Amino acid sequence: MSGLNPYIEQVEIQLPRQPFQVTFEPQRKTVNILPGEMLEESDRLPGSLLQLALNNDIDLDHSCGGVCACSTCHVIVRSGFESCNVATEDEEDMLDLAPGLQPQSRLACQCVPDGTSNIVIEIPEWNRNLVSESH
Ligand code: FES
Repeated sequence: MSGLNPYIEQVEIQLPRQPFQVTFEPQRKTVNILPGEMLEESDRLPGSLLQLALNNDIDLDHSCGGVCACSTCHVIVRSGFESCNVATEDEEDMLDLAPGLQPQSRLACQCVPDGTSNIVIEIPEWNRNLVSESH
């Protein structure tokens, strides 16, 4: 499945130009993100929180494959919200279906930080069903 859904508004993103950190809660795993990492081959939106999580062995439910067609990748941006792209109406419509919605909720597959600040995201308990327990 491609990362672009032709039926939704295209996401405007600005990829980071500097290194930054993303901390995943409750795993308390902080990863260093380098701008070049964002451009690797992937079906997902480059630099999305979903992509960053999966690149760093943080599994996060993403039933539709990252095309803004479900709400299973719902995360809460606890810090650094202002450095993320603005949510489209399509993302907000899909978020309305997510349990536990909060003002700083985003779909991880549609949220791309620009690297101007470090980010802390919380993966809600119900979206952690695919988190690897093998470590
Ligand atoms: S994975 Fe389906 S909306 Fe993000």
